[in-house]
Amino acid sequence: MKSSRSVYILLSLVVAVATFLVTMLLMNISERKQEARQTYFPLANLTEDTVDPAEWGKNFPRQYDGYRRTVDTERTRYGGSEAFQKLDENPRLRRIFAGYAFSLDYREERGHAYSLQDQDETERTRMRPQPGSCIHCHGSVIPLYRKTGGGDVMKGFEIIGPLPFAEVREQVTHPISCVDCHNPETLAIRVTRPGFLNGIRALKKSQGIDDYDPNTMATRQEMRSFVCGQCHVEYYFAGDNKLVTYPWANGLKVEEIEAYYDEIGFSDWTHAETGAPLLKAQHPEFELWSQGIHARSGVACADCHMPYMREGALKVSDHHVRSPLLNIERACLTCHPFPATEMKARAEAIQQRNAKLLVRAEEALIALFDEVKAARAAGATDSQLAEALRLHRKAQFRADFINAENSMGFHAPQEAARILGEAIDYARQGQLAALRLRRRPPER
Ligand code: HEC
Ligand code: HEC
Ligand code: HEC
Ligand code: HEC
Ligand code: HEC
Repeated sequence: MKSSRSVYILLSLVVAVATFLVTMLLMNISERKQEARQTYFPLANLTEDTVDPAEWGKNFPRQYDGYRRTVDTERTRYGGSEAFQKLDENPRLRRIFAGYAFSLDYREERGHAYSLQDQDETERTRMRPQPGSCIHCHGSVIPLYRKTGGGDVMKGFEIIGPLPFAEVREQVTHPISCVDCHNPETLAIRVTRPGFLNGIRALKKSQGIDDYDPNTMATRQEMRSFVCGQCHVEYYFAGDNKLVTYPWANGLKVEEIEAYYDEIGFSDWTHAETGAPLLKAQHPEFELWSQGIHARSGVACADCHMPYMREGALKVSDHHVRSPLLNIERACLTCHPFPATEMKARAEAIQQRNAKLLVRAEEALIALFDEVKAARAAGATDSQLAEALRLHRKAQFRADFINAENSMGFHAPQEAARILGEAIDYARQGQLAALRLRRRPPER
C-alpha cells in the first residue's frame, strides 16, 4: 500500500513539473510570436516623398542600421568596397578606352551610400558634360520625376533626362534609398526605375508576353532580383533626349544585346587608336547572373547580397548590401554544407580562372590595335580596314562585358568563359585582317 502511495506522489510531481514546463514554453512561443508580429511601432509617417532613409529608420531601425553600414570600405581579392583606380591597377584599360571618358577615371564601385558622392567626384562628370539621365540609378530621383511630370513619373523621366547633370544633381538629396525598393504603405518590395520598367517590358514582349508589369505579375522571388536589376544592368542613352534605355528587346545574352545595338547603328564612341565605332558595357550583373546556374536554380540577388539574419525571433534581411565573400556564413552556407573557407576557395577559383582569360582577351585587343595602327602607317585605307574594325567592335564589347560585370565571372562562370573565348577569337581575327593588308600576296 505504502509503495503505491509514493508512486502516486511521484507521478503527481512529474505531471506538475511537465505542466509548468509546457506552460513556460507556450508563453515563450507566444512572446516570440508577438515580437515577430510587432516588427515595428510606426513612429514616422512614410510617403512616396520620404527619400530620407533616417525617417524610415525610425520605423525599421534594424534595416536602417544595415543600410548605414554600406559606407564600409573593405576590399576582397577581386571586388569589395574600396574605390581604387582601375586604370592604375590595369594600365591596358587606358588604351582600351582611348578617346572615351572611361580613360580619365574608372574606379572600383563601393556601397550604396556613396552612389551620389562618387558621381560628383568622378572626372567623368567633372571633365565631360553629362546629362541628367546619369542620376536615374544613383539617387532617390522618383519624387523629382513625379513632380516634374506633373504627377506622371514617366513624363518627368523624359523631361529630366536631357537636362545638364549639374542642374539635376542639385535637386536630388539622397543616394539610393528605401523608397527606391519599397512601397511606403505596404513595405512590399517594388521596382520604380522607368528604364527597368520599359526594358523588362521589351524583354517579355520578345518572349510573347504583352504589357508586362513586374509590380503585379512577378513572383516574390523574381522581385528579389528585379529590385537590383533596376540599376545593375547594361544601358545606353537613346536619342536626343538621352532616355535611359536597357537594350533587351532581343534578349539578355551578350550577342543579343550587340544585335540590338547593331540594328539601330549605335556606338558610344570612336576608338582613338583604331577609329572603330565601339560600345561601352556597363555593370551587366543582372544579364550575366541570368545565364548562370544560380539563376537557373531560382537563387536571387538578395539571397547572396542581402541574406537573412536572426535577431531574436525576427528574420531580418541584411541591408548592408556588399560582397557576399565578406559574409560567407550567411550568404552561402544556408545552401552549401561546406566550411566558409571551402566556399571562398570555390568562388575565388572561378574568379582567378576568369581573370586569367580576361587578361588574354585584353592582350589580344592591344595586339589588334597595334596591327591596325601599323596597317594605317603603311597606307591602308578605312575601307580596307573595315573588316578589322568590325572585329575590334565585337571583341571589345565581349571583353568589356566581362570586365564591367562586377563578379569577376562568378555570376555565370561558363557563360563568362564562352564570352571571353569569343573575345580572344574576334580580336585575333581582327589582328590577322589588319596584318594581311601589310603583307604582300605570296608569289604565284
Ligand atoms: C549565388 C550568390 C550570388 C548571387 C545570386 C548574386 N551574386 Fe553578386 N556576387 C556574388 C559573389 C560571390 C561576388 C564576388 C564578390 C567579390 O569578388 O568580392 C558577387 C559580386 C557582385 C557585385 C560586385 C561586388 C563587389 O564587392 O565588388 C555586384 C555589384 C553584384 N554581385 C550584384 C549582383 C546582382 C545585381 C545580382 C542579381 C542580378 C547578383 N549579384 C546575384 C554572389 C552572388
Ligand atoms: C542603369 C543605371 C545607371 C546609370 C544610368 C548610370 N549609372 Fe553609374 N553606376 C551604376 C551602377 C550599378 C554602378 C556600380 C557598378 C559599377 O561601378 O560597375 C555605377 C557606378 C558608377 C560610378 C563608380 C565607379 C566608377 O565607374 O568609377 C561612377 C563614378 C558612375 N557610376 C558614374 C555615372 C555617370 C557619370 C553616369 C551617366 C553617364 C552614370 N553613372 C549612369 C548604375 C548606373
Ligand atoms: C537605384 C539603383 C540601384 C539599385 C536599385 C541597386 N543598386 Fe547596387 N549599386 C548602385 C550603384 C550606383 C552602386 C555604386 C555606388 C558607388 O560606387 O558609389 C552600387 C553598388 C553596389 C554594390 C557594391 C557594394 C560594395 O560594397 O562594393 C553591390 C554589391 C550592389 N550594389 C548590389 C546590389 C543589390 C544586390 C541590389 C538589389 C538588392 C542593388 N545593388 C540595388 C545602384 C543600385
Ligand atoms: C536595393 C533595394 C532595397 C533598399 C534600398 C532597401 N531595401 Fe528593404 N528590402 C529589400 C529586399 C530585397 C527585402 C527582402 C524582401 C522580401 O524577401 O520579401 C527587404 C526587406 C525589408 C523589410 C522586411 C523585413 C526584412 O528585413 O526582410 C524591411 C522592414 C525593410 N526592407 C526596410 C528597409 C528600410 C528601412 C530601408 C532603408 C533604410 C530599406 N529597406 C532599403 C530591398 C531593399
Ligand atoms: C539559396 C541557395 C544558394 C545560395 C545562397 C548559394 N548557392 Fe551556390 N548553388 C546553389 C544551387 C542550387 C546550385 C546548383 C548546383 C546544384 O543544384 O546542386 C549552386 C551551385 C554553386 C556552385 C557551382 C557552380 C557551377 O557552375 O557548377 C558554386 C561554386 C556555388 N554555388 C558557390 C556559392 C557561393 C560562393 C555562394 C555564396 C556567395 C553561394 N553559392 C550561395 C544554391 C545556392
